[in-house]
Amino acid sequence: MSDDNPFEKFNAWLLWKKEHPGGKFSEWYVTAMDHLIKAGKPVSCLGPDPTDQELMDKNAEKAMAMLMELGLSSSDRLVEYGCGSLSLARPILEYLDPGHYIGLDITDRFYSYGKARYPDLVARKQPQLAVITPEALDRVRAQQPRFVIAFAVVGHVAPGELDYFFTQFIRLLEPGAVGLVEFKEGERDFQHWYWDFTYRRSTLSAAVERAGGVVESNEKHALVRKYEEGDTGYLLIGQK
Ligand SMILES: C[S@@+](CC[C@H](N)C(=O)[O-])C[C@H]1O[C@@H](n2cnc3c(N)ncnc32)[C@H](O)[C@@H]1O
Repeated sequence: MSDDNPFEKFNAWLLWKKEHPGGKFSEWYVTAMDHLIKAGKPVSCLGPDPTDQELMDKNAEKAMAMLMELGLSSSDRLVEYGCGSLSLARPILEYLDPGHYIGLDITDRFYSYGKARYPDLVARKQPQLAVITPEALDRVRAQQPRFVIAFAVVGHVAPGELDYFFTQFIRLLEPGAVGLVEFKEGERDFQHWYWDFTYRRSTLSAAVERAGGVVESNEKHALVRKYEEGDTGYLLIGQK
């Protein structure tokens, strides 16, 4: 990492916050990723040309396998919360009926890159893509999605913003819908890189509870946990 990038320092967020009082970590994250992408620096799954396509494809296939085991059918509506540049979305989009994949993100810039990368897939499958706003969440919830997933997102949510994150996420879950969240699991909560957080399962479960959801610990949960490897953990979330 070079010295000329203001975001490549651990205190970069704090410096930014000083200049943007009231600014959220999520806003800084978008600014930082934009900066890297525009500077042509490697960003693993975002931008016009994510760096590690092989890993992205492997993650996407794994997510798809989990969803199939959880009973995804092609006529279901599925929300990807924090859809980024549609790296994870590809096999899901391929499988679902046109219009049934809904990608939400805190900015439209990242999914615009995805649209440009996969024009044929987007033309055939007509994903619904929107920026997360209260109105957008209401519109999406009215479609009664059966699955709401967030992969590689919680690891970029700062501790002080977890409650807000899960409140918005759980707002999309109708009774009976399945929430599936991937996260980086550790024995303590810590920021291991400028924009990367590792959490204890108990920290996230408590945030889910506060947000009005429940972390499932049933057979379905066992099914999801068998996919865990290394520090990658999954939470299966339902409504209380
Ligand atoms: C590493 S990318 C993962 C994208 C996609 N899920 C995938 O696996 O290819 C993280 C995404 O989460 C989004 N994100 C970050 N903080 C968020 C938050 N607080 N709420 C919703 N999305 C967020 C970012 O804008 C970015 O698109």
